[in-house]
Amino acid sequence: MDTKLIISQDGSHTLYVPSLDEHYHSHFGAITESKHIFIGAGLASLAGDKISILEVGFGTGLNALLTALYAGEHEISVAYTSLEKYPLDPKIVQQLNYGVLTASNGPELFEAIHSAPWGSPVQITEWFSLNKIQSDLTADDPEGRFELVFFDAFGPDKQPAMWTEEVIRRIAAVTRPGSVFVTYSAKGSLKRLLRALGFDVTLLPGPPGKRVMTRAVKR
Ligand SMILES: C[S@@+](CC[C@H](N)C(=O)[O-])C[C@H]1O[C@@H](n2cnc3c(N)ncnc32)[C@H](O)[C@@H]1O
Repeated sequence: MDTKLIISQDGSHTLYVPSLDEHYHSHFGAITESKHIFIGAGLASLAGDKISILEVGFGTGLNALLTALYAGEHEISVAYTSLEKYPLDPKIVQQLNYGVLTASNGPELFEAIHSAPWGSPVQITEWFSLNKIQSDLTADDPEGRFELVFFDAFGPDKQPAMWTEEVIRRIAAVTRPGSVFVTYSAKGSLKRLLRALGFDVTLLPGPPGKRVMTRAVKR
């Protein structure tokens, strides 16, 4: 996928995809957005010291990095599985400033996350294991059971195939009662689908530039 490096409003990079006219993150702040939605409304809301996470759209690895840092700071064991159809060219990844902007060990952790092989779980730190899987969620069923889902696909208006009943059903099938699903989108059709699949859906305040986001809990 052809991409262009952009600096978002908090100084962190994101990528723009001309063919979709879409960004990987909010241009109001990539790190700010990821922390708000996936860490704040997702990971930080879960009790327990062992959490399995499914991410849809590994992309730049920003959510994986922030999760690894959070897991280390809070001493919780996270098993992180991330699905990606189009892994980024390492030459693009090397330009991203997430490592230096996040923590003193950020650069080293970001490098470890990206150099981990695809297709097998790797223990990246004492608290964080990573399983990057190259797959197409519009065709393949994910495997496993997850307490937390980071649904970070391109927007429903830009890539509707990722927001269909078939795809959301695939995700619901790998959750259990109490599992949490978070995404930046608050589209009505998504909320209806999630409710029909047995989730209690709540709208929460979104990050800068986004009034609301979705958090859903499996009954
Ligand atoms: C919004 S971006 C993800 C941002 C990412 N979470 C990050 O932190 O950089 C959406 C991602 O979904 C991936 N994607 C697109 N179609 C897909 C598919 N059919 N199956 C799995 N991933 C897909 C894209 O390549 C892209 O990396």
